[in-house]
Amino acid sequence: MSFDTNFPTKRLRRMRRDEFSRALMRENVLMPEDLIYPVFIMDGKKKSEPISSMPGINRHNIEGLLKIAEQAVSLHIPALALFPYIDPDLKTEEATEAWNPDGLIPKAVRSLKSTFPELGVITDVALDPYTSHGQDGLVDSSGHINNDETIKILIKQALSHAASGADMVAPSDMMDGRIGAIRLALDAHNQQHTRILAYSAKYASAFYAPFREAVGSAKNLRGNKKTYQMDPANSNEALWEAGLDVHEGADMLMIKPGMPYLDIIWRVKQTFSMPTAVYQVSGEYAMLKSAVQQGMLPEKEAVLEVLTGFKRAGADAILTYYALEAASWVRS
Ligand code: PBG
Repeated sequence: MSFDTNFPTKRLRRMRRDEFSRALMRENVLMPEDLIYPVFIMDGKKKSEPISSMPGINRHNIEGLLKIAEQAVSLHIPALALFPYIDPDLKTEEATEAWNPDGLIPKAVRSLKSTFPELGVITDVALDPYTSHGQDGLVDSSGHINNDETIKILIKQALSHAASGADMVAPSDMMDGRIGAIRLALDAHNQQHTRILAYSAKYASAFYAPFREAVGSAKNLRGNKKTYQMDPANSNEALWEAGLDVHEGADMLMIKPGMPYLDIIWRVKQTFSMPTAVYQVSGEYAMLKSAVQQGMLPEKEAVLEVLTGFKRAGADAILTYYALEAASWVRS
């Protein structure tokens, strides 16, 4: 009796029998070169301090950041993405500190690029670490985020990052039209080579909660971000967003968060064939880490499975707080 007339001549388990034949048929392989390491930075003398919502992740001052960069370079991680913790005294309604040419991010970029010129530096273009209200844009008198006024500040912010040597600016704000506006401004300032990594499909997600503590915007945030970040229920809208970013001049598209949105990675990659990144966000990290800490998951296997899943879904690059560990695991 058999289920199929080919049985038992067709046996898929034959190829799974030994590591050599599993290796030969493996379709996706995670490499350190796929990874981008997001790093939280702060001003001051203290080298580093822990972030309680993200066990194992610290904020670093510039000296500490250079140590991290050295590790990243030696592990063949191509780029860091910088996120600032801004002194609460510098936060204002208009986020003036966001485009200070001598602010924390420009300072950090200059020292990174002078010490490790080959390491890619990606900066976050958004106002939330700098606003007293914790929103990514400027709030008007009726409580709405003013799209076009916000873009004017984002342009200044992106230009200050590019001028300090940032290789890639990554607008994470979700204002309409900001990719095109930033591209035009960069080009007008002789920064044609500055790449734009567009957070094209960024969802209004609960999984950002630990990050908001890390950059110190959690306590400030009034309301939510649903008027600019996407509804997690939508998929076609992600293609619409990504299409606009392609048209406006994005060099690379990003989907964020990662694990609940594998279908979006797949659709965006299939539709545009563009360089595509995914952001495994703070809540995804915290979720894995806490399960590991409670002895519920084997860390290395679980993390590599998730990261490989991103590649299978179509991601070329992965932002992950696990970048250093993952790079050393796949190299060993
Ligand atoms: C905001 C920003 C967020 C993240 C990156 N940039 C949070 C938010 O939109 O509130 C989240 C990253 C993470 O959770 O790891 N500009």
